[in-house]
Amino acid sequence: MIDLSGKVAAVTGAAGGIGAEVARTLAKAGARVVLGDVRVERGEHVAKQIRDAGGEARFIAHDTSNEAQWIAFIDSALDIFGGLDILVNNAGIEQACFLENVTVADIQALFAVNVTGVLIGHKHAVRAMKPNGRAGSGGIIINLSSVAGLIGTPGLGVYSASKGAVRLLTKAAAVEFGRLGYGIRVNSIHPGLVETEMGEKLLNDFVSLGMFKDRPCLHADEGRASIGHHRSAERYRQPGAVSGLRFVPLDVRRRTRRRRRDDRQLIRRSCVFLE
Ligand SMILES: NC(=O)c1ccc[n+]([C@@H]2O[C@H](COP(=O)([O-])OP(=O)(O)OC[C@H]3O[C@@H](n4cnc5c(N)ncnc54)[C@H](O)[C@@H]3O)[C@@H](O)[C@H]2O)c1
Repeated sequence: MIDLSGKVAAVTGAAGGIGAEVARTLAKAGARVVLGDVRVERGEHVAKQIRDAGGEARFIAHDTSNEAQWIAFIDSALDIFGGLDILVNNAGIEQACFLENVTVADIQALFAVNVTGVLIGHKHAVRAMKPNGRAGSGGIIINLSSVAGLIGTPGLGVYSASKGAVRLLTKAAAVEFGRLGYGIRVNSIHPGLVETEMGEKLLNDFVSLGMFKDRPCLHADEGRASIGHHRSAERYRQPGAVSGLRFVPLDVRRRTRRRRRDDRQLIRRSCVFLE
């Protein structure tokens, strides 16, 4: 286990799924963790679990699409734990829809969280982490993109566009902060299907879209079904299925932790595949 004693970490979307596992792991490694999420009760519960296990954690209600709440979130890390060394931009939402049916409202809602929220997070984290910022000692920003930010999948056009944006934001931020001499590394993580609430919703959405041709409960027409993966949802969950190996949050958690080792200073603007 690496030692993150003395470090302060902030994790968005930490009330469940990958974010909760990342927060638990950071705390177990010794970091003091601020957890944010729109789901207050569940977020408080995860923070309490961490404290009950001997870690230091505080939950802050935080909608990543809201800039004022971002300022309050970053200030909480600084005020409560006295610094900010690690930001994990994990909060995200998924929507599966064929492009011919997508609405502007849907696009804006998804981009508000998956893209704008991550951008605003960089803005306020870098202000704190950069030299002469309130934390002032550099840091690490880790962005949850997705395999969907690297390859195309039918029904995931809007989500893929948002995750592709996160991938290139990561690269732009890494070179910008490097050029400015801020001592802030930025990396993106690209998981395949992970068994979380989002993973479950994605599978159900694919079934609704008729993406699994051999599934009896199809309600999309044959033409659309033919562009699917020709696999049932059950088969899709098996290791080696078309979208890659199945990962539980624990796997993402382990890989995320490695990103953050102080002896890996040269790892910056990289994409970490979890396929
Ligand atoms: N599950 C997968 O298969 C998968 C694969 C690749 C990438 N990802 C990415 O990993 C990240 C975490 O996914 P997950 O599977 O744990 O999802 P999840 O839906 O299980 O958890 C996401 C968390 O984010 C929170 N959240 C949603 N909108 C928010 C907002 N505006 N502000 C703050 N919190 C908000 C939710 O309340 C929830 O607790 C996401 O960015 C997702 O796109 C997931």
